[in-house]
Amino acid sequence: STPIKSSAASDVYKRQRQSCPVLCGLVTNRLQLLFSHRGIIIRLTLHYNRFLTNRLQKAGLSKEKEPERMNEAWTELKQACAQCRRCGLGETRHHLVFGDGAEDARIMLIGEGPGEQEDLQGLPFVGPAGKLLDDMLEMIYLDRTKVYIANIVKCRPPHNRDPQFVEQKCCSEWLRRQIALVDPAIIVCLGRIAATALIKDPFRITREHGQWFDVNGRRCMAIYHPSALLRDTSKRPETFVDLKTLQREIYARCPEVYPDA
Ligand code: URA
Repeated sequence: STPIKSSAASDVYKRQRQSCPVLCGLVTNRLQLLFSHRGIIIRLTLHYNRFLTNRLQKAGLSKEKEPERMNEAWTELKQACAQCRRCGLGETRHHLVFGDGAEDARIMLIGEGPGEQEDLQGLPFVGPAGKLLDDMLEMIYLDRTKVYIANIVKCRPPHNRDPQFVEQKCCSEWLRRQIALVDPAIIVCLGRIAATALIKDPFRITREHGQWFDVNGRRCMAIYHPSALLRDTSKRPETFVDLKTLQREIYARCPEVYPDA
């Protein structure tokens, strides 16, 4: 039979062969682990925001159980976004329009970019399109306390032109991190530009509004942008049907949104 080795050298050898995690760095939103496995060094970087959300979900905990850490993550994200000068839009804006609503909402609405009123007030959808959006939400018993609203770009494009592809790309990290923190079950894209950026490219808004798409485990739908509905009222009946489709999905996926139903 094979003799059992019990020498100190053998123990050291055995320990070296085992994977041995070593904490080597903890930055605000990043955790680095170094593993040594059979002489090979493996570095693992965990991004804290995603790690936190996933860990809480897997542990069956709600985000409310970790309010301080969620608040810290939001504060860090807002500060980083406010300092962003990746594209030229930051030079001409009056205010950053980061987002508004419930930071733990089950439903997220995403527009294309701030207009004049939003730029002046620093809040999304507070101009004429925003008033119509509030009315649309009311039709399905929602308001800004039940949703989170953000935009593809956070700074107003001059003269309300469409945000350019490069501007959308420069801004995409902020929206990606907002979505990770809110962690909504349902995302509603307001208009073609948001749908193209988040659902699929190209997106044919006239044909594909009101349809559901699964994107990264979330239910996503696009509806006409409220500005388009202000310009062309003939699109409103179709949008009403889309809103009712949305309402049914909310009942099915997150009935807690309608506690009295
Ligand atoms: N249009 C948008 O797409 N977003 C706003 O915040 C306002 C108008």
